Amino acid sequence: MSTAVQASPAKELGFSYKQGVNWSEYLDFRPVYPPSFFEHIYTYHAQKPNSSWSVAHDIGAGCGVVSAGLASKFPRVIVSDPNDGFVTLAQTLLEKDTASSSTSFRFLQEGAEKSSVDAGTVDVAIAAECIQWTDTATAIREIRRELKVGGTSVITHYTVPRIVGNNEAQKVWKAIWDEYARRATGPLLDHAVSIVNTALDCLEFPEGEWEGVRRIHVNAQGSLESYRLDSRSRESKVRDSEEVAWVEGDDDWADEQGLAWFKGYLATWVPVVPEQEIQHLWAELETALGGQKVRIETPLTIVFATKA
Ligand SMILES: C[S@@+](CC[C@H](N)C(=O)[O-])C[C@H]1O[C@@H](n2cnc3c(N)ncnc32)[C@H](O)[C@@H]1O
Repeated sequence: MSTAVQASPAKELGFSYKQGVNWSEYLDFRPVYPPSFFEHIYTYHAQKPNSSWSVAHDIGAGCGVVSAGLASKFPRVIVSDPNDGFVTLAQTLLEKDTASSSTSFRFLQEGAEKSSVDAGTVDVAIAAECIQWTDTATAIREIRRELKVGGTSVITHYTVPRIVGNNEAQKVWKAIWDEYARRATGPLLDHAVSIVNTALDCLEFPEGEWEGVRRIHVNAQGSLESYRLDSRSRESKVRDSEEVAWVEGDDDWADEQGLAWFKGYLATWVPVVPEQEIQHLWAELETALGGQKVRIETPLTIVFATKA
């Protein structure tokens, strides 16, 4: 059963320090964007006749993990994020990590919905793991404004990994995420969770404004259920003319992990669930894991669209 959530814009900024964000934990426990992630993007963009490769915009960049990958392909990368302190941190990390690269970065503290980037100047705009914090229709309009005609919009979301090969552990892990979802309420989180629960199918790309819409679901076992945290949902805006592709068994989005990692990973999601509040579930997971690491697989969605 689905619970419909109104598509009202989020008022408070999502994923802020105030809500418990810790970038050091994020870098340790979130999946690293692997080569296949960037390959999907470059393959889509390269298919277009006369595709140009001058400027990329990493929207909702956080500490700049996607920007670092883009730097190997684009001579100019715009790094933007609205939350206080995030682009400053991204600048520090990127200047260290890409010291030998000739890419020039531009850092902007601003949200996806209103950008100071000039119209028609961006080749590829990427909003990774952040569209749920935006007023999605406004953000998509703004991305279109920034793009050159023929430019590529890339919107991505990975969700909680599933445990494979240990049903008991997966059952407890799921119960842990039920506790997360029970706490993730209020206008901002209802907004965000209902968007990611649809695997981004609620994002609309109006005909005439966009073409070549392609939605790729990686490691989703052929079902959008793989992305659901709970029953909050939104209407699908997928059109018949759009292409939907399923890619199974992408090992780039798989790993082997044990108890400490599961605790660390949960702590990277806001709202943070204090460990002591679900101590009984962590104890059950510890028993189910029996001191072993287990295989995890992360479902990922990538939505491409080309500015018409
Ligand atoms: C989970 S982090 C993703 C960071 C990075 N893009 C990645 O993929 O790892 C979500 C980011 O969305 C940003 N964000 C929140 N509201 C936003 C908005 N209205 N527009 C753009 N980004 C926003 C947050 O500041 C945060 O950096």
